[in-house]
Amino acid sequence: MRHAAGEHPPGTSGYDAELRRHDGVLRRVVGVRSHDHVLDIGCGTGQTTRQAARTARAGSAFGVDVSAPAITRARELARAEGLRNVTFEHADAQVHRFPPERFDLAMSRFGTMFFDDPVAAFANIGRALRPAGRLVMMVWQAHERNEWDVAVRRSLEAAEGPVAGASAGPDAFSLADPPTVREILRAAGFTDIAFADVHEPVYYGPDVAAALEWVRGFTCTLEVLKRLDPAAATRADERLRQALAEHLGDDGVWFDSRAWIVTARRVGPE
Ligand SMILES: C[S@@+](CC[C@H](N)C(=O)[O-])C[C@H]1O[C@@H](n2cnc3c(N)ncnc32)[C@H](O)[C@@H]1O
Repeated sequence: MRHAAGEHPPGTSGYDAELRRHDGVLRRVVGVRSHDHVLDIGCGTGQTTRQAARTARAGSAFGVDVSAPAITRARELARAEGLRNVTFEHADAQVHRFPPERFDLAMSRFGTMFFDDPVAAFANIGRALRPAGRLVMMVWQAHERNEWDVAVRRSLEAAEGPVAGASAGPDAFSLADPPTVREILRAAGFTDIAFADVHEPVYYGPDVAAALEWVRGFTCTLEVLKRLDPAAATRADERLRQALAEHLGDDGVWFDSRAWIVTARRVGPE
C-alpha cells in the first residue's frame, strides 16, 4: 500500500511504520497474557505499550521513556483509544524507582541499547520484575548485518571521509553481541538467556522524498550533517538520496535488517 509523503496509518508514528514487519514477530514472542502487568522500557510513543494493554485486559501496561515529547504523545494516543489500564511516565529506566516486584514482564522494542551502565540498568529493571518474571527485548544485531546502517553510513562517509564516518551519538548496536549481552544480563540477575534471529526489512517511506526526510531525522545523520559545511552536507544528502532510490520498490523504500529478540528470566525462587 502506498501512502502520501509523511503520512502514516492513524495512531502510528514513523517508527511504527518503519518496524511494521518486526512488530508481529515481537508481539508473538512477548505473548502478553490477560492478567499480566507489563513494563515497556524506552516505550517511545507507546505502540507496544498500547498493544500490551489491549491484551492484558485484567492487568496493566506501564511505559517509560526519557523523551518527554514521546511520553506526551503516548498519553494522547492511549487516551484517544480509551485505554484505561495503561500509564506512562517520563523517566530514565536505568535509575527510576519502579515499584519492586510489580511486573510479570519487562519488554522493549529497541529501547534498551542506550544505557550508560547496562548491568546497573538491567539490575534496576530486574528489581521491578517479580521473581522469575520475564524480560523480552528487541535489539539490533551488528552494524554490518544491517543494510540500512551500512548504506546510511557509507553515504555520509562518502561525502566527508573519516569525519562523517566517526561514530556519533548513542550506540544503537551496543547489545548486538550475544556473549556480551549474556554476561550483562547474568551480572544483572537474569537467567535462561536466549537469542532469536529476526530477519525482516525496515520501511523508510512510500517514496524517496519521504524516506530521505525520515533518514535525515536519525540521530547519527543529524550528528554528522551538523558537523559538515553546507557544500559537504549537500553532497551527503545527494548520496543518501541515491542510496534510498536504489532501494525503492513497488511498495516503497525498504532495507534489509537483522535484529535479536533476547529473552531472559529474573532469577526466581529455587
Ligand atoms: C529507537 S526508540 C524506540 C521507541 C519505542 N520502543 C518504539 O519501538 O516505538 C528508543 C527509545 O528509547 C528511549 N530511551 C533511551 N534511553 C532510555 C532510558 N535510559 N530510559 C528510558 N527510555 C530510554 C528513547 O528516548 C527512545 O524513545
